[in-house]
Amino acid sequence: MTSYVAAIDQGTTSTRAMIFDHSGRVVAADQREHEQIFPRAGWVEHNAEEIWENTRAVTAGALAKADLRSGDIAAVGITNQRETALVWDRKTGKPVYNAIVWQDTRTDKIVDELGALGGGQERYRDKTGLPLATYFSGPKVKWILDNVEGVRERAEAGELLFGNMDTWVLWNMTGGPDGGVHVTDPTNASRTLLMDLDTLSWNESHAADMGIPLSMLPEIRSSSEEYAKGRERGALSGVPIAGILGDQQAATFGQACLSPGEAKNTYGTGNFVLLNTGTEKVMSQNGLLTTVCYKIGSNDTVYALEGSIAVTGSLVQWLRDNLGMISTAAEIEEHARTVEDNGGAYFVPAFSGLFAPYWRSDARGAIVGLTRFVNKGHLARAVLEATAFQTREVIEAMNADSGVPLKALKVDGGMVVNELLMQFQADILGVPVIRPVVNETTALGAAYAAGLAVGFWAGEDDIRNNWAQDKEWTPSMGEETRAAQYHNWKKAVTKTFDWVE
Ligand code: G3P
Repeated sequence: MTSYVAAIDQGTTSTRAMIFDHSGRVVAADQREHEQIFPRAGWVEHNAEEIWENTRAVTAGALAKADLRSGDIAAVGITNQRETALVWDRKTGKPVYNAIVWQDTRTDKIVDELGALGGGQERYRDKTGLPLATYFSGPKVKWILDNVEGVRERAEAGELLFGNMDTWVLWNMTGGPDGGVHVTDPTNASRTLLMDLDTLSWNESHAADMGIPLSMLPEIRSSSEEYAKGRERGALSGVPIAGILGDQQAATFGQACLSPGEAKNTYGTGNFVLLNTGTEKVMSQNGLLTTVCYKIGSNDTVYALEGSIAVTGSLVQWLRDNLGMISTAAEIEEHARTVEDNGGAYFVPAFSGLFAPYWRSDARGAIVGLTRFVNKGHLARAVLEATAFQTREVIEAMNADSGVPLKALKVDGGMVVNELLMQFQADILGVPVIRPVVNETTALGAAYAAGLAVGFWAGEDDIRNNWAQDKEWTPSMGEETRAAQYHNWKKAVTKTFDWVE
């Protein structure tokens, strides 16, 4: 009996495999971290072969933990860190360069040059819904073609393939050089600056601007359909691979934000607020992205407005790994609880420049408001508060764009176990914050996409019915304090501008 659906979540810091039952509960999970490679200031890379090894290991691991075999799995979905760009050889399966991660800012000159062709930062906005920024995949592929010896010639000869991590994982899961399918979905393709949001097809003139041969680009299929079956020798041999969603869109789906006006915020490496705008594409006037939310089979495309924040959870990791100030991420809350407030300190983690709503690649991180009074507890608080303030900034932009103020925020991701942060988030937003029972919404969303395609779940009502609330935090901060703190935060942000000339 095929009573389960699996999901592979290829994230920024780790790869996970999870198995869900029909009620959307986690049956088993396995996870492996991969190396974060920082060759220079502003550069971030991943070893794609290590990621594929980890994918294989965690898939086998999750099945073993649940004592299941491929025959027990009805379908598998893939979800992934978005924008991270990889180029590999279609015959050997070898990457020509490490994957360039979404946080990497090395393409700032390329981005300026493309803008100088006309239109500046808005050059591709109409067609793609995105500002021209280092975040997206297209300029990263151009960097690889321009800078890795011999790669442009090989790409033009049709020997190389481009993919985000969904495509890399799917290609390998379906046989790699031996028959692997080269496919992506619109949620991932919409993050490249190369896809037309209306037609869901590659835009030839954008690809020509960036010198990217069309033969490298994967086929764009829907987010929920059978692309192929798992390769013969794999742990999921013969299982339909039937869902692909970028991780933030997957979390939106897993949170059952299936109607226009519903939004979620995922607290991961970064934070990403997505508001479902239905089949209508809303163009942002306030620094947000317009992106594909999902496309289920032949149904109409559903769009979203997105507020992308580059650094939130990764700031806590930075304190742990680069400064040694804490030894586990959980310690941050303990330190923050030793004080009443931030003691006047504000930490703006503009490590990858600033994403929404600013889109400034010239920004770099700053801690301001320091005095001799400030101690470790105040800094810990400032670190947590940075996540909440940045969230407020993108929600304000969203309220302005949609004209309808958000009434409550559904949250998920690693940092939502932090009670102090969740209360502060509700306080600084002035609206309730709601956490679901199943916090693994990213993997769950990908499982839903795959399960819908094979009829394991009948329709979106199943997803709505499976969603259940765990906890709600209501605002308790006075209006004056809220306004004063946010004012200080805004002032702190301005101190990070113009650091990179
Ligand atoms: O756009 C980047 C995003 O997909 C990465 O998500 O979960 O690693 O913060 P996460």
